[in-house]
Amino acid sequence: MSKKRALTGIKPTGAPHIANYIGAIRPALALTEEYDSFYFIADYHALTTIRDARELTDLTYQVAAAWLAMGLDPGKSTLYRQSDLPETFELTWILNCVTPKGMMNRAHAYKAAVDAAREAAGPDGNADLDAGINMGVYSYPVLMAADILLFSSHVVPVGRDQSQHVEYARDIAQRFNHVYGDTLRVPELLLSPTAANIVGSDGRKMSKSYGNQIPLFAESGPLKKIIRRYKTDSSGANDPKDAEGSGLFQIYREIASPEDAAAMKKALETGEMTWGACKDLVFEALDAFLEEPRQRYRELMADVRQIDRILIAGAERARPEARELLARTRQAIGRVELRA
Ligand code: TRP
Repeated sequence: MSKKRALTGIKPTGAPHIANYIGAIRPALALTEEYDSFYFIADYHALTTIRDARELTDLTYQVAAAWLAMGLDPGKSTLYRQSDLPETFELTWILNCVTPKGMMNRAHAYKAAVDAAREAAGPDGNADLDAGINMGVYSYPVLMAADILLFSSHVVPVGRDQSQHVEYARDIAQRFNHVYGDTLRVPELLLSPTAANIVGSDGRKMSKSYGNQIPLFAESGPLKKIIRRYKTDSSGANDPKDAEGSGLFQIYREIASPEDAAAMKKALETGEMTWGACKDLVFEALDAFLEEPRQRYRELMADVRQIDRILIAGAERARPEARELLARTRQAIGRVELRA
């Protein structure tokens, strides 16, 4: 029996950091053996927020290079760029026409944008709640459904924040099938065992929007600085410390051996280890762990044609299947091929 397909998209909206690796990149790459894995750079999803052409270009390369550097093997899985598959956008339109508008009104990301506009207007504000919201934000879930359904994916591995989108893709597939007959595979949600939110350098959840992240490919010097600056509680040198609540320990646990992680946890909790000593250990472990990926990342970014070749080959591999699914879908809706 052939393997089941797993497909997931990566939105190129920021330089990847260590929490992205622990929470998303590593769990997704862990599926490569068990599944026929499709990973793609969702560059047209990023277009809903990124308005700088250079930035879109750079982030597309950075994100592709990051996944390759962290172990994505383009020989074992398929890596492509969403916008290289024009079939996606035709399927999006067809799906738009079976998708109830009310469903989009209830989408979390859109609702959050409307809530923000209401908030900004104040208690007796008379705001246009849709001001500043583009149609891309509104129909984002339909494009995502097309990404998924185009490849008849069995499972879609995503973090919790994306689960509504996968539910929508299922719902849209069912609606299409109900109208036109069985055509689209209804995918399953595969929730990544998202490691608890990693704490960033200022004590809040690590996030690009707080600027408290550890970039995956920082050089040793800057990496050391960020770790040194990490906010820790004010416990005295020999006081018991909260290992689990510390971003430093959370990261160490993910990259060190279980024995080393257990030893650090104990040393912190008994008060034997100072935060300074902890930082030194975390820096050394992380610096060693990232040394090879950093090198690989640098090589890829120094000659992005290498990335181009990988993405082109991925799209070439994926495209016949996309064409076939689209052909069946066109037939289902009654768009026959014209013959002269
Ligand atoms: N919306 C996803 C995110 O922001 C990215 C994405 C686009 C995606 N298309 C997808 C994820 C299809 C899974 C499947 O992270």
